[in-house]
Formats: sequence, structure tokens, C-alpha cells
Amino acid sequence: MSKTFFIETWGCQMNDLDTQRLSGNLKLRGYQRVEDETAADLILLNTCSIREKSEHKVFSRLGRFREMKQERALTIGVCGCVAQQEGEAILKRAPWVDFVMGPGNVGHLDAVLDGGRTVAVDFPEDRHYDYLAIDRPSATKAQVTIIEGCNKNCTFCIVPTTRGREVSRPFDDVLNEVRAALESGRVELELLGQTVNAYRCPISGRDFGALLRAIAELSDVKRLRFMTSHPAEVSDSMIAAMRDHANISRYLHLPVQSGSSAVLRRMKRLYTREKYLEIIARLRDAIPEIHFSTDFIVGFPGETDDDFAQTLSLIEEVRYGSLFAFKYSPRPGTPALRIGQPVDDAIASERLTRLFELHEQHKRERLEGYRGRVLPVLVEGPSRHDPDMLAGRTDDNFVVNFSGDPSTRPGSMLGVRIDQAQHHTLRGQVVA
Ligand code: SAH
Ligand code: F3S
Repeated sequence: MSKTFFIETWGCQMNDLDTQRLSGNLKLRGYQRVEDETAADLILLNTCSIREKSEHKVFSRLGRFREMKQERALTIGVCGCVAQQEGEAILKRAPWVDFVMGPGNVGHLDAVLDGGRTVAVDFPEDRHYDYLAIDRPSATKAQVTIIEGCNKNCTFCIVPTTRGREVSRPFDDVLNEVRAALESGRVELELLGQTVNAYRCPISGRDFGALLRAIAELSDVKRLRFMTSHPAEVSDSMIAAMRDHANISRYLHLPVQSGSSAVLRRMKRLYTREKYLEIIARLRDAIPEIHFSTDFIVGFPGETDDDFAQTLSLIEEVRYGSLFAFKYSPRPGTPALRIGQPVDDAIASERLTRLFELHEQHKRERLEGYRGRVLPVLVEGPSRHDPDMLAGRTDDNFVVNFSGDPSTRPGSMLGVRIDQAQHHTLRGQVVA
């Protein structure tokens, strides 16, 4: 009987993709993936350490696996950013763990399983990237890493420690992976990186705008997304590529973190409020239909009522299609630990609530505004709620459930007239 593995994933898109790569590799080795941890011979936890909460979860999960290991043979591996951050210390605290492997070693799982490495937290110079062995969960969409690590040093952020220095993949490697994904029938591509728009080919020097163009021009690319863009890396060449290619999504994730220039300076975000708004204006000038999503951190050390009021006014000014917001969480070894007064937790919670309330209003208005309009929808398959209906996504990533021909192929792009806006989703019908 073949061996089985279970893998649990927390965190960002990068982690999702690492899971797809680990899973693909294990399947090549003859393992079978199971969704029930109690049926697995190998358990991998692909962890996140961006905030303290996700980090705590790891040890409570490991406690549970310890009990399972007392009853049967079981191999346990801790992967991802907590593995990178804690390394050896995980084995000390949880000696029943078999190996600890950081994000730099995702392509080197064989060396761990066959070579008996128990702590693999380096960033090998020559990183394996087997794009043919990616276990992609979607039949219509493929995520493709174009740049790993991060060279920005935002003072709150653990990512530069856990994912290492910035390394772009060669242009032609990326294009080969994209072509393979298209050949397998995927029509939507999402380029990934912590600062995706800082991409620069290490061989030819071609930049992110050139890469966007080259991919958008391949036939069969129906939708091209990318994340995460750093505002300070938005270039004219990126904007021009977006303007010239309608299959590049008009929905841009552009994390701002705060609306106050004083806070942004202490965060070392490399832009002011004014500069960020100017970048938004440049993008809107070139691509009038563009809209934005973003990330905020509230309660950053020293954040005053006035700083927070500026965050709210920035949200009012930009009117995001969606946003993610988090209370500041102190991370080990980051410079923010030594900056300003911590904000009282109750105040931070209250700010977070007010921020979400304002954004909800904007989101409602946007969804309501879609009523009666015909939107291009990329079909993903039958609707989860009603198998007689189809489901797909708008360019701004909202799910649309709609009535249409049940034999429609996933990956088709259809015009759907929206007749209802629900809390998070839209409903409509196909137009001829
Ligand atoms: N590379 C991306 C994403 C970094 S992590 C970027 O440039 O934005 C994703 C989000 O987590 C960040 O945008 C930030 O809003 C949040 N985050 C990062 N560190 C955090 C911390 N210490 N506390 C709270 N939120 C944090
Ligand atoms: Fe983190 Fe800032 Fe890089 S948020 S991932 S250090 S751009």
C-alpha cells in the first residue's frame, strides 16, 4: 500500500503555493494525499509567523500529533515561516517532531526525507524549482512564483527573516512555467512574490512590466493577476503594461498599512500618504476603471487618534474594493519592538472595528452598484450552493452565482448580468 500524507496550510499565497509544491513532490514519490490527519503516515504543518496568533497554533497542533504518534508510526515535519524562525528550538520544545524545514528548502524535500536532515533552514544558492511537479488545486487557475524573499525592511515585519533575501527567477523559467500551466488548460494566472513588482530578471535585467507584457500577450491568458505589489515599486513600465493589456486584472492589491505619514515613516514603508495617493492617481489616470484592495495595520506603536483619523480619511479617499486589516503584533527581532509606546489593546480593537465598518459601507455600495450591469465572469464550475447554477469570479474577485448552460466549460469567460448583490457574493444570469 502506498504511503499517505496530510498537509495543513496557514498564511499567505506563498505558503499555499509551497504546499502545492510539497504535495506535488510527495505524489511523485508515490505518496497519496489524504484529508484526514488520522489516516496519514506523514504530517506536514506549513506554518505562518506573520502574527503571534498563527504561531501559537503550531504548538497546540503539535501536541495533538504527539498523542497520535504514541499509537502508531508517524512522521511529523514542521515547514513554513515558524520553522524558519524557530529552527532547532522546535525540536527542543517538541522532540517528537521529525524535521523542521524552512521556505528556502521547499524544493529540497528529498534531501530531508532521504538524507535524514532534521533542520533545514538555510537558503540554498541553487534553489530547486520543479514547476512540473506542482499539485495545483484549481483546474482554471495557476499561481506562479516570480520572486522569492523580500529586501524591504518594514520595521514590523518578520518576512525578510523567514523568507530570506529577494531573488527573482529567470524570465524564461517563468515563461516556461506559464506555458506549461496554459497547456494544462489553466487560463487564469496569478504571479506571486512578497514584492512582486520589484521583479527583475537576474540574467537579462528585464523588469516586471516586461514580464507582464510577455505573459499577457500569450494566447489563452484570460486573466492575469499578481500580488503583492509594493507602492514604492510601482513603475511606469508596470502601469503601461496594465494599460495596454485588458486581460491584466484591473484590481490591484496595494498595501498601504497606514494613512499617516508619521506612522509610515516609523514603519519604513518608503512612501508618505501623499506619495501613495499620487501613485493611486497615476494608476487611475492611465487605467480609469482600476480599483484597489489593501492591507492596514492598526495600533502600530505610537499611533495616535490623529494618525488613525488619517487612516480613515485615506480609506474614504481611495474607497477600496476589499481590505485586510490587522492589529499590530510584535514580532521577534524586528526593529518595531524598540519604537514608541505600545497602543492599548482595547483602543486598537476599537480602531479595527471602526475601520471595518467604514470599509463595509464602501463595499456594499460597490456591490450594489453592480446591479443591472453586465460583468465579465470567469467560470469555475458548478455553484457550491446550487448545482443547477454556475459559479465564477469577477475581475475584482467576487464570486458570482448565475444561471447559464450547465455544459459551459470551466475557464470560459462569459458576460453575466448582475441582478442581486448579497453580503459577499453576486447573483445573475448569462447574457447572450
Ligand atoms: N509582502 C506583502 C505582505 C506582507 S505580510 C507586503 O508588502 O505588504 C501581509 C500583511 O500582514 C502585511 O501587509 C501587513 O498588513 C500584515 N502584517 C505584517 N506584519 C505584521 C505584524 N507584525 N503585525 C500585524 N500585521 C502584520
Ligand atoms: Fe514585509 Fe514590508 Fe517585505 S511588509 S514582506 S518587509 S515589503
